[in-house]
Amino acid sequence: MIPSDFFRGRRLRTSLTMRELVRENEVTASDLIMPYFVVETEDENFMKEIVSMPGQYQLSLKQLEKKVGEAVANGLKSCILFGIPAEKDEVGSGAYDDNGIVQKAIRLLKDRWPELIVCADTCLCEFTSHGHCGIVKNEFVQNDPTLNLLAKTAVSQARAGADIIAPSDMMDGRVAAIREALDEAGFINTPIMSYAVKYASAFYGPFRDAAESAPQFGDRKTYQMDPANGREAMREAVADLEEGADILMVKPGMPYLDIIRQVRDNFDTPVAAYQVSGEYSMIKAAALNGWIDEMNVIMESLVAFKRAGADLILTYFTEDVLKALKK
Ligand code: PBG
Repeated sequence: MIPSDFFRGRRLRTSLTMRELVRENEVTASDLIMPYFVVETEDENFMKEIVSMPGQYQLSLKQLEKKVGEAVANGLKSCILFGIPAEKDEVGSGAYDDNGIVQKAIRLLKDRWPELIVCADTCLCEFTSHGHCGIVKNEFVQNDPTLNLLAKTAVSQARAGADIIAPSDMMDGRVAAIREALDEAGFINTPIMSYAVKYASAFYGPFRDAAESAPQFGDRKTYQMDPANGREAMREAVADLEEGADILMVKPGMPYLDIIRQVRDNFDTPVAAYQVSGEYSMIKAAALNGWIDEMNVIMESLVAFKRAGADLILTYFTEDVLKALKK
């Protein structure tokens, strides 16, 4: 006799419509944030593919405008900007220059597409000659002297029209410093999406090619978190919340789904997941070899973020997903 009282999970999997009816999580266009790399250059036609990130580009302002235009036509709602300045210096002046490349890009995009959410990555590493995320003295990144510069960067980005300020530097106290400076400058309604739980990850490798921001000495382990630590993530999240973060981000994404889940369970704020450059490159490389089905793997990786508890996702696959969702 076959027992009739066992769980018949297959009943709800009999057709696509049935599966969709009971589906728990979904990835939609409004969840996705597309990162763009914009370069300060005289050459309007500048568009250089990033070797370690096939399909991603460093773009001039003009080419950025073209690319974003196509994406908006496909349903892009939100993007985040990273800048590559023509000149770098010890203190990352380009980051807080009102005429810096990121500020110019924000003004351009907000002017063309007022509805588009434009996030600004707030950090110094793309603008410093040494490639670190703060002021360096005796080969050590100085926390408190850096805060003022990050606050200046955030205000300058908000003044250019940024909708969301996203500090990615991992200095202690930076959310408080940025919140205070934004409020003082009258930007009380500009939210902060903090890279609250950001690990010192080898998965950022390709990004550093893209943003030309590899540290010139040492590494980022004195400010970014140790990948072995889970409890510490909650301390970082609490600190940023108390300092005024509106959205908490966990980064990288796929290797840290447990951390996304913990942040989701412990806090009521929106949670963002960043599927970082190395995650993109791995999927892309396998797909280019014909070893995996690219779009199916992308969608599975993104729905995993939703299942783990993320509300929004930063991913280099945004444009591809928008096209796929349209079909
Ligand atoms: C800047 C920054 C980095 C990333 C986002 N903002 C690089 C880093 O911390 O070294 C990584 C994004 C990615 O790998 O896709 N601090």
